Amino acid sequence: MHKEIKLTVSGTGFVGLITAGIFADRGFLTTALDTDENKIVTVNKGETFFFEPYLPELIKRVVLEKKTLIASTERIKSIKESDVTLICVGTPSKSDGSCNLSFIESAAEDIGKALAQKEGYHLVVAKSTIVPETTRTLIKTIIEKQSNKKAGVDFGLCMSPEFLREGQSVHDTIFPDKIVIGQFDEKSGEKLEAIFQHLYRVEDDDFSKTWGTIFGKKVSCPKILRRSIETAECIKYANNSFLATKISFINEFANICERVPGVDIKHVAEAIGFDFRISDKFLQAGTGFGGSCFPKDVNAMITFAKDHNYSPKLLESVMAVNIQQAKRMVQLTENAIGDLKGKQIAILGLSFKPETDDMRNAPSIKIIDELLSKGANVIAWDPKAIEKAKKESELSDKITYANTLGEIFDNTDACLLVTEWNQFKKLEPKDFKKMAKPVVIDGRRIYDYKKFREEGIICVGIGLGEIK
Ligand code: UDX
Repeated sequence: MHKEIKLTVSGTGFVGLITAGIFADRGFLTTALDTDENKIVTVNKGETFFFEPYLPELIKRVVLEKKTLIASTERIKSIKESDVTLICVGTPSKSDGSCNLSFIESAAEDIGKALAQKEGYHLVVAKSTIVPETTRTLIKTIIEKQSNKKAGVDFGLCMSPEFLREGQSVHDTIFPDKIVIGQFDEKSGEKLEAIFQHLYRVEDDDFSKTWGTIFGKKVSCPKILRRSIETAECIKYANNSFLATKISFINEFANICERVPGVDIKHVAEAIGFDFRISDKFLQAGTGFGGSCFPKDVNAMITFAKDHNYSPKLLESVMAVNIQQAKRMVQLTENAIGDLKGKQIAILGLSFKPETDDMRNAPSIKIIDELLSKGANVIAWDPKAIEKAKKESELSDKITYANTLGEIFDNTDACLLVTEWNQFKKLEPKDFKKMAKPVVIDGRRIYDYKKFREEGIICVGIGLGEIK
């Protein structure tokens, strides 16, 4: 059945390109749409334009070998010729924290115009993160107006959020914990469930073998939850807000533990993680959460709640703790080496987390801003994110970028570990001892501080209560 189903994926951003690639790898004839001609040309050459593990091989295979994925700017024509459209466009934050829905509006307009020219049923699926009621009040309204057709009669409508993590997005798309289908009507939900059943069917084919071998587990159909459209929209925000809350919780506790002699937040997190009601996931204290989702989504929910006459005190605190956490790194540095004016500070890691070059809302930006405001000179190195930091982030040319990891130790007064890349985990005391007076501020608690101290290094970290 899947071979006959033609998909269009609107938006070749992070979610769009990975979703399109995986469906195409399973044999669905897929067209990835974007307004950016450069992205389309790149994808049609079988190449990618952002760093993500396994994505280059996947896109190369489906574009050049299987020929199941093409990219196009011809949005209306492509939608008209397909059976299902997945909306995967971005929903960035506006300056007041609310969701910018302009890309959603354009995508819905394209779909509406295409459906006006199309005969037969078409299923529309919103995958972008959109605040509750957007699918019904915005997407449905625009499509109905442009097409003069009715949702639930002439076309189907679902909202199906994704929960993939950057750096693990290929894995998370093939092995999701759950699939949430918010359905406008029963028929729409059934159609989308059938598509997912085909994507995740248990079969001894290339798809299952390739991914099963890479990730060491069998492809199988995850739990599918069919709910209302608005429930699905809320699930996405609740999921991300809860995880962000867990991180701010452990960071708040780390700050408390720093004030209690001999306590290490890692031991506290480990122990509470054994309680199955808490679990050990997302309890790593550090420099705070960044990325394209958590800050944006928590802020969007805060604005949404306030607009609906509710004051979301917990979510506001989650953001407040997160903003303050980056500054904590600078306080720890000042405690270790005193006034930062004129000091050379090295930043290890710029991306918001390892295995990605994404700089969006990276804690490194806040930390560096704070260091610069105190008169420090900053040099940074990252295995993947230097180009993006230079060209696409607020950091731009405000700091020096090292050409090699080795370079950052020269004339440096303190090294701040900000992103826990594997390259940094491998560093040993001898590497830091290239500094005249070695000082390490461990923002992700990856170093054995006792061993480092035995070697004469000043090593402090988030959540470490010093014995006085
Ligand atoms: C997140 C969600 O996990 C995913 O389900 C959703 O679809 C998109 O947003 P992502 O932003 O890729 O994914 O990153 P994630 O791995 O969740 O980490 C987010 C941030 O939290 C990173 O900055 C990370 O360093 C930080 N983090 C995570 C912690 O500080 N401590 C932890 O224990 C876990």
